Amino acid sequence: MPGTVIIGSQWGDEGKGKVTDFYGETADLVVRYQGGNNAGHTVVVGDRKMKFHLLPSGIMRAKHVFIGAGVVIDPRVLKKELENLEKIGKEVHLTIDPRAHIIFPWHNLEDGAQENEHGGEKIGTTGRGIGPAYADKCYRTGIRFEDLINEKRLKQKVEKVYPFKKKLLEKTFGVKIKETADEIFNQYNELGKEFLQYVGDVSLEVNEALDSGKNVMFEGAQGTFLDNDFGTYPYVTSSHPISGGVATGVGMAINKISRIIGIVKAYTTRVGEGPFPTELTGRVGDDLREKGQEYGTTTGRPRRVGWLDIPLLRTSMRLNGFTEIALTKLDVLSGFEKLKVAISYSHSGKTFDYFPYSMRSVEKAQVQYREFEGFTLSGKEKKFKDLPKSAQNYIKFIEEKMGVPIKLVSLGPERSQTILVD
Ligand code: IMP
Repeated sequence: MPGTVIIGSQWGDEGKGKVTDFYGETADLVVRYQGGNNAGHTVVVGDRKMKFHLLPSGIMRAKHVFIGAGVVIDPRVLKKELENLEKIGKEVHLTIDPRAHIIFPWHNLEDGAQENEHGGEKIGTTGRGIGPAYADKCYRTGIRFEDLINEKRLKQKVEKVYPFKKKLLEKTFGVKIKETADEIFNQYNELGKEFLQYVGDVSLEVNEALDSGKNVMFEGAQGTFLDNDFGTYPYVTSSHPISGGVATGVGMAINKISRIIGIVKAYTTRVGEGPFPTELTGRVGDDLREKGQEYGTTTGRPRRVGWLDIPLLRTSMRLNGFTEIALTKLDVLSGFEKLKVAISYSHSGKTFDYFPYSMRSVEKAQVQYREFEGFTLSGKEKKFKDLPKSAQNYIKFIEEKMGVPIKLVSLGPERSQTILVD
């Protein structure tokens, strides 16, 4: 059975955790392919709210979860998340690819120091060391999971990298690294011993599972416009959240994926800096933020909020090839008298119905909106036809503009607050 991918179509925080959990029930395997603990997925199961940053959120349902080569792993965070699962008696079947790169304390310090260097032009990273860990991978000086679980290799690598990082941090950024090389080695070596049980060739195992007809789900983190190449560079993350990232992040061929679910939040949000054409900065924006509880799962930062953006979504469709859409947080729009949706941008006499490649155009663009009647939900809607007509129109408009069916509408964090559209 070919694999299913879950992708954030906007700037992340679209509610992928809930959708992965929803579909994860039927998945044999759930696989993460990029990012690290910059992600924040919330899954509500009964009265229990679980937050995941590094482990795939599908862990609550799937039989077996995988962390692919394209992920960067902070073992200190992995330990905490595994302990939290142990506390609730959840059995974990986890496999980690030996090729995945490891986040060390110097990466966290570099992340913060780089941001300070940017002065007024910060990226607004999560501060989790993600960018520096990926940079070391590209420099070919990174330390991988296969090194973490091998005492001798870990010692050699830490001894080699530490003096360089210390010099860089102290001399360039004036930042002191408080741990000694031995302290870091000892801490990471302990973690490596603990995690040895999880090592396995994720590329091989996932390909075998796909070939033998297993149901495999690939769980994206962040969102399309945080993609390092196709997002709003430089205000992006350092990995590839788009669907093409699955092949390189896991080690598999693109023709093994047949279902690509785009998660579209019914409005738009982004955390951190960077262009955001439909951003709402006044009272409507504040109301949306409060109703949608738009505060970062990882950093607690208030998210920037704005109207739904069709040019952005059409571009997302082009970059990802969605085969269906899951529309989330429609309930948050309930009670607004009027809703707006961006339908095009214009700049220098040109009109765009897609997201321009030039960030200058995006920043300077005028946005053309279409207004929709608002709607009020009762909370009892179980089927598409139970939704108010104006909500149905809003959904159909998105479907028509994206050219792909909306198969799921989420009206709240609970599994029961989900409408499957025939
Ligand atoms: P980094 O991934 O920590 O380097 O942060 C780079 C940019 O991506 C910042 O704007 C972050 O706020 C954003 N970002 C990273 N992870 C997430 C996420 O899971 N959801 C939303 N934004 C994110």
